[in-house]
Amino acid sequence: MTTPLSACQAYVFDAYGTLFDFGSAVARYADIPDNKRDALTTIWRDKQLQYTWLRSLQKNYTNFEQVTADALDFALEATALTDASRRQNLLDLYQTLSAYPEVPEALAKLKANGIITAVLSNGTPAMLKAAINHSGITSLIDHVLSVENVGIFKPAPEVYQLAIDHIGVPRDQICFISSNGWDAYSAAAFGFQVIWCNRSSQPAERLPGAPTVLMKNLFNILALTET
Ligand code: LAC
Repeated sequence: MTTPLSACQAYVFDAYGTLFDFGSAVARYADIPDNKRDALTTIWRDKQLQYTWLRSLQKNYTNFEQVTADALDFALEATALTDASRRQNLLDLYQTLSAYPEVPEALAKLKANGIITAVLSNGTPAMLKAAINHSGITSLIDHVLSVENVGIFKPAPEVYQLAIDHIGVPRDQICFISSNGWDAYSAAAFGFQVIWCNRSSQPAERLPGAPTVLMKNLFNILALTET
């Protein structure tokens, strides 16, 4: 099969929602009523992303660990679940989020085909290292790139530029993979070839940029590299 992705030398993955299931922190914590689990997960994630965008616009950067804690505080209060012990336990669980089941196999297949692999994320280097180690995929990822290097969050172009600068591969030979529609579209607008791993069947974004390929999970990623 020949696809527009055939020429990609490097596959660069978003972290949260793409490789790691951000819902697994709440899912693995018992002390939350069943009827509040979905709301807590959704509000926590939505606020976390909003705070990255708003802080970027404010030019008031703080690291993703702080943003994640601030968003959790908002979400706990919004769901009437504020509690110091619950807060700390959820933040600890966020450090060891579960990888989606197909992730190790997909990365291993890419590596076996000589493709450079990387993570490019809002996460701090320590957060990314913890999640990668916890998932047992350390040896399958060549580069771990954090926005800490540029002090602004996605989708600022400076963030996507990090991949080119650190990996040393031309823009159009990088395939960027994200489950977050806004991230996928923004990376495409930047000039990467893009897989939108649309895990939650979201509608198309009305933003500049168009993903090259859509898929529901990462199981079929290797077929795209075959010529
Ligand atoms: C990240 C967020 C956007 O990992 O999921 O950068």
